[in-house]
Amino acid sequence: MPFAITQTCCNDASCVSVCPVNCIHPTPDEPDFGSTDMLYVDPQACIDCGACADACPVDAIFPVDQLSEALRPYAEVNAAYYAEQEPVTAKADPKPNFHEWAPPTFDRVLPSDFAALDVAVVGAGPAGMYAVEDLLLHTSSRVTLVDRLRDTGGLVRYGVAPDHPSTKKIQHTFARFHNHPRLRLRLGCEVGVDVSAEELSARHDAVIYAVGASAARSTGLPGEELPGSLAATTAVAWYNGHPDVRADAVDLSAERIVVIGNGNVALDVARILTADPETLADTTIAPHALAQLRSSKVREVVLLGRRGPEDAAYTMPELRALAQQDTVELIVDEHDSEVARAIEQAGEADKAGLLKGLRRETVDWSAPPPYERRRIVLRFHSAPVAFLGDTQVRAVRVTGADEETEIAAGRVVRAVGYRGTALPGLPFEEDRGIVPNAQGRVEGVPGSYVVGWIKRGPSGGIGTNRACTNETVGALLEDAVAGALPKTRRWLPKLRLGRR
Ligand SMILES: Cc1cc2nc3c(=O)[nH]c(=O)nc-3n(C[C@H](O)[C@H](O)[C@H](O)COP(=O)(O)OP(=O)(O)OC[C@H]3O[C@@H](n4cnc5c(N)ncnc54)[C@H](O)[C@@H]3O)c2cc1C
Ligand SMILES: NC(=O)c1ccc[n+]([C@@H]2O[C@H](COP(=O)([O-])OP(=O)(O)OC[C@H]3O[C@@H](n4cnc5c(N)ncnc54)[C@H](OP(=O)(O)O)[C@@H]3O)[C@@H](O)[C@H]2O)c1
Ligand code: SF4
Ligand code: SF4
Repeated sequence: MPFAITQTCCNDASCVSVCPVNCIHPTPDEPDFGSTDMLYVDPQACIDCGACADACPVDAIFPVDQLSEALRPYAEVNAAYYAEQEPVTAKADPKPNFHEWAPPTFDRVLPSDFAALDVAVVGAGPAGMYAVEDLLLHTSSRVTLVDRLRDTGGLVRYGVAPDHPSTKKIQHTFARFHNHPRLRLRLGCEVGVDVSAEELSARHDAVIYAVGASAARSTGLPGEELPGSLAATTAVAWYNGHPDVRADAVDLSAERIVVIGNGNVALDVARILTADPETLADTTIAPHALAQLRSSKVREVVLLGRRGPEDAAYTMPELRALAQQDTVELIVDEHDSEVARAIEQAGEADKAGLLKGLRRETVDWSAPPPYERRRIVLRFHSAPVAFLGDTQVRAVRVTGADEETEIAAGRVVRAVGYRGTALPGLPFEEDRGIVPNAQGRVEGVPGSYVVGWIKRGPSGGIGTNRACTNETVGALLEDAVAGALPKTRRWLPKLRLGRR
C-alpha cells in the first residue's frame, strides 16, 4: 500500500532525500518546487518502505490504508498530481527504481586550511534554525544564535495555530541543535536594543539576520485604528501566548467578527475564534485565550476576500480541513452570481471546486447571526473601503461587483499580511518591508546576510525557508572562501549578551 502526503506538509523536502525510489515530487531542483501547496507521493512508484514518514518533521505522511477519515482524500490528491505530469518515475516498470548514486559531494566544506568561521545568527525561527543546521552540519563554524525572546521557535511557537500540533512538532527537529558543542544560545537579547548590528559584526566573521516580519500590513483605509479593529498579528500572538501581547488584547463579546483577508492566517483566526474551546483545551493555546473562548459571544466569523473563490490566497489543504470539520458550519455568501458560477464550473480538485458541497445563501447583513450553531461565512469579491464607527468599530463597508454593502460587526480582524520592520544598522526597503539583498547578501553591508521572511517578504510555509537558507549560507561560504568577509576584530572586549 503506497504512502500519501497530507495536510500539514510544510514543503521542507526532508522526505525527498530519503526516498529510495525518487517518487516524491516536486523535488527542490524541479521547476514546480515552491509553487505547489505541498509535495506528493507517486502511488505507482512508491515501494511502501516508510522512510519518508520517519523523516517527516510534521507527521504529514501515512500509508494510504491508515489515513483517517479526514485525511482520506489525500490518497486521491497525491495521485492526481501525477495524473497531470509526464512520468518522472519508473511507471512503466514498477520495480524499485534505485538511484545510480553519484559520488558524494561536500559542497558545504570549506578548504582545509580555512579557519573555522564565527557566525552570529539573529532569530531562532525556522529560517534562523535552518541556517544553524546548515552551518553546524556542513561546516566547522561556531555559531551564536541570538533571539530577542526567551523561547526559540519564532512563528512556529507564536504563529502556527494551536490546533496544528503536528506542525508545531518541527520545533523538536530544530531544538536538537540547541546543545550542539559549537552553538552558543543567547536568548532575551534584542539586536538593535541590547546589542547593535555593528557590534555583532565586529565580533563575528559574518552575521545572518533571520528576524522575520513581525509587524502588520496596513489596509490604509479610514477607521482602521478604531477600537475593536485589530491586526491578525495581535490575535495570533494573543492565542499563542506571545509575551509582547497582553492577555486582554482580544475581546470576544461581539456576535459577529469580520476577518479581512483570505490567506491561511485569516483561516487560522476564523477557525480558532469559532472553535469549540474544549477541543483546544489540551493544546498549546494560551490559558487566557482559552478562558475567553469559553465565555465567547461570537456566533459568526465572516471571511472577506477581495478576489473570487478560484483565486483565494489560502492553500487547498487548509481550506479542505476547514470544510471537512463538522463543529462549525462553513457557508458561502452568494451575494453575486459570479461566485456561484466559479464554484459550479470548477473541477472537484480545483480551489473553487472544494466549495461545491457547501451551503450557499444570500446573507442578510442587517440581521443578527443565527443562534443554532456557530458559523464561518466566506464572502468573496468584497474589497473593504472603510471601517465605520465613532468610538468603536460597528461595521465594514465593502465594495463588490456592483454595489457597496455595510457588514455590521462588533470586531474586525485585519489579516492582510505581515510586514518586516527596519533594523538599525541595516538598509531597509520600505515598499516590500524587507532588507534589500542579492541571494541573501545584504546590500552595502559586507559580511551581513538575510534569510526567511526578512529576506523574501512574509510568504511561504516553514519549509520554504530551507531552500532560502541554502542560498544564503551558500553565498556566505562563497564569500568566506573568496576572502570577501570583512576582517574580524577579535581584540574587542567580550560582549555581555543577554539581559534577563
Ligand atoms: C499565523 C501564522 C501561522 C503559520 N502557520 C504555518 C503552518 O501551519 N505551516 C507552515 O508551514 N507555515 C506556517 N506559517 C509560516 C511560517 O511560520 C513562516 O514561514 C516562518 O515562521 C518564517 O520564518 P522566519 O524565521 O523568517 O521568521 P519568524 O518565524 O518570525 O522568526 C523570527 C525570529 O526572529 C526573532 N527576532 C526578531 N527581531 C529580532 C531582533 N531584533 N533581535 C533578535 N531576535 C529577533 C523573533 O523573536 C523570532 O524568533 C505561519 C505563519 C503565520 C504568520
Ligand atoms: N500552512 C498553514 O497552515 C499556514 C498558516 C498560516 C500562514 N501560512 C503562510 O504564511 C504566509 C502569510 O499568510 P497570510 O495569510 O498572512 O498572507 P497572504 O497569504 O499573503 O494573504 C493575505 C490576504 O490579505 C488580502 N489582502 C491584502 N491586502 C488587502 C486589502 N487592502 N484589502 C483586502 N484584502 C487584502 C490578500 O488578498 P489578495 O490575495 O487579493 O492580495 C490575501 O487574501 C502565507 O504564505 C501562508 O501560506 C501558512
Ligand atoms: S514509502 Fe518509501 S518509497 Fe514510498 S514515498 Fe515513502 S520513502 Fe518513497
Ligand atoms: S513536511 Fe517535509 S518531509 Fe513532510 S511531507 Fe512535506 S516535504 Fe515531506
